[in-house]
Amino acid sequence: MSGSVQVGVPAEVKDRERRVALTPPAVHVLVERGHAVLVQAGAGDGAGFRDEEFLAEGARLTRDPAEVWGSDVVVKVKEPQPSEYGYLREDLTLFGYLHLAAEPDLTAALVASGCRAYAFETLTDEHGLPLLAPMSEVAGRAAAIIGAAHLSAALGGSGTLMGGAAGVPPAKVLVIGLGVAGGIAARGARGLGAHVTGVDVDLERLYRYRLDGTLDASQSGEPSLVAGHVREADLVIGAALVPGARAPEVVTEAMVASMRPGSVIVDLAIDQGGCVATARPTSLSEPTYVVHDVVHYCVTNVPGQFPRTASAALSAAVIGKAVHLVDDVAAGRAGGGEEHPALAGAANVVAGRVVHEAVAEALGYA
Ligand SMILES: NC(=O)c1ccc[n+]([C@@H]2O[C@H](COP(=O)([O-])OP(=O)(O)OC[C@H]3O[C@@H](n4cnc5c(N)ncnc54)[C@H](O)[C@@H]3O)[C@@H](O)[C@H]2O)c1
Repeated sequence: MSGSVQVGVPAEVKDRERRVALTPPAVHVLVERGHAVLVQAGAGDGAGFRDEEFLAEGARLTRDPAEVWGSDVVVKVKEPQPSEYGYLREDLTLFGYLHLAAEPDLTAALVASGCRAYAFETLTDEHGLPLLAPMSEVAGRAAAIIGAAHLSAALGGSGTLMGGAAGVPPAKVLVIGLGVAGGIAARGARGLGAHVTGVDVDLERLYRYRLDGTLDASQSGEPSLVAGHVREADLVIGAALVPGARAPEVVTEAMVASMRPGSVIVDLAIDQGGCVATARPTSLSEPTYVVHDVVHYCVTNVPGQFPRTASAALSAAVIGKAVHLVDDVAAGRAGGGEEHPALAGAANVVAGRVVHEAVAEALGYA
């Protein structure tokens, strides 16, 4: 490493988002390497990390978000919101969730600014998507609980209990995409006593979850075969992903219309545009809406409501990668296509160009 840089950690501004990207132990790692860390006062409050804890690890604090965004590198959780677009600038390196395939306006703002934007969700290593996985784990665990809760008649659902009762069959849960989020959601639904069917284009995943007893039934992604399972489902959990690209539409509007009134859809894939035709992004303040008498829960930041667990898990995964990015910026390397191999796939927008192929294709920048 040559030189040091300032790393900024802003408070999140997305609706009811309470996570913080770096916790005090992660700040310690950067400070130990000689970097300055500027944390927005109160940024960790929602997750239970107090300002004094950041100070104790060597961070500086400011109340001014513009000052934090003035740092060389900004590490944050959620994609910049419109109120933050004005902070984007040419010599800024941004590291956070971006989900650009579903964010054309943000992409245009990043391109126009000339900044370097690195996405957590497209960073790849030999194990997959190491910076998406921790939040997919949290969201997947939450999805089964959230879906079960919304089946309650008090929340507009059909009044079906996941585990059924003596002589009454359990609820039918259909999970689309058995990756990190879907696999854990399927286990969660199974743990609540539901009858669980899994859909994936990757047959190996179907085998794995059938063999370990998570799934009662399984289906390849063939649309005509998925339709019958959607019609029968009390709860559909969407978690299909093609990294960087817009989510594949697996459930059509006609399939949604075929579901029983009061059935529930939790589409986690909404952050990439959703894998259900009738899905549109919702917020933690107003998480649901109804189409064809089916309750839709399409919150783009599900882990934001479990900030203590989610921040600790995210920060622990991010810090190892952030160290390489910050060191690269300090050495003047990042941006020239010479990033550290540990950052493979993360670069999305660099100096006015959309450099991630799937993102560029999804948004017509290819
Ligand atoms: N809403 C939220 O708050 C939230 C939080 C975390 C993750 N997510 C999202 O959840 C989604 C899943 O993330 P993940 O980490 O589990 O991804 P993953 O890559 O681990 O798994 C995705 C799975 O989808 C499968 N798939 C791809 N195309 C398919 C198709 N046409 N039909 C069926 N299956 C298909 C893949 O084979 C894979 O098994 C992503 O969009 C992610 O961004 C959302």
